[in-house]
Amino acid sequence: MDILLVTIGTLVSVLYAWGYSKLDYMFDRSEIARFLRKLIWQKSTDSLNMKTYQLIINDYKQAIHAETIDQPFISNFLNYLNPKSKILDYGCGGGTLTANLNQQGYSCVGSDISNDFLSVAKETYPNIEYLNADSEKLVKEGFICDGIIAAYSLIHLQKIMIGHVLADFRKLMPKGGYLYLALQCDSSDTLCIGSEGKFPVPYRPELALFLNLFSDDEIRIGLNLEGFEVVEIQHRNPVENEFPFRKMFVIAKCV
Ligand SMILES: C[S@@+](CC[C@H](N)C(=O)[O-])C[C@H]1O[C@@H](n2cnc3c(N)ncnc32)[C@H](O)[C@@H]1O
Repeated sequence: MDILLVTIGTLVSVLYAWGYSKLDYMFDRSEIARFLRKLIWQKSTDSLNMKTYQLIINDYKQAIHAETIDQPFISNFLNYLNPKSKILDYGCGGGTLTANLNQQGYSCVGSDISNDFLSVAKETYPNIEYLNADSEKLVKEGFICDGIIAAYSLIHLQKIMIGHVLADFRKLMPKGGYLYLALQCDSSDTLCIGSEGKFPVPYRPELALFLNLFSDDEIRIGLNLEGFEVVEIQHRNPVENEFPFRKMFVIAKCV
């Protein structure tokens, strides 16, 4: 019995240290921390999100038109880049933004971890390059670009993974590169761990997606820690079919 209690106590302390402590999640970037965090938290989160996306992929295309509504924020971001810059569309979904950016003369590559979304993207835009990769894989493969757009993709990461992914983004771009984030916004710095972060999909309420919510200060601190300087933060209210949180648009420069 004693051994069982000690084991449980130790396990809880380890989980706390690797995930629950807000300060720790901000600072520990070791490979072992990433490995454990992926295994303990992100794997099941990705699995829930991928299952849900598989079921709603057609509804999503019809219900959500973020690339149109957010056009002013994306155009504003593009003003920071040179024409023909190489851009990564991280979490590209159905690939529409990737294709639009190529049409505008940028060299844009889409990446996603969802095979379902990637199949749609490749089928719809067969001449565009789409990669099945997360940021860790892109760094390992030596991918380099001038700008990264992560539109509503980091919203699906557990917060304890955010620092790792921002650190990867910094490695994917040289000094002077620019990052665009579209996030779900909340005034607090809620951790959104586990069931706390599961929200019903507005247009398919019987299904859930994991989301995290950020305050302006929280993302600003996270970006500064990973070698970015925030140059702009803007917001808009949610529209029909979207999750009922304000949207946040961040532009940050690699320093
Ligand atoms: C809300 S959709 C956004 C798609 C597209 N960027 C847009 O704005 O329409 C979220 C995308 O993030 C991807 N995603 C989910 N979890 C992810 C993760 N852990 N890493 C990278 N992308 C992820 C999903 O597969 C999906 O394509």
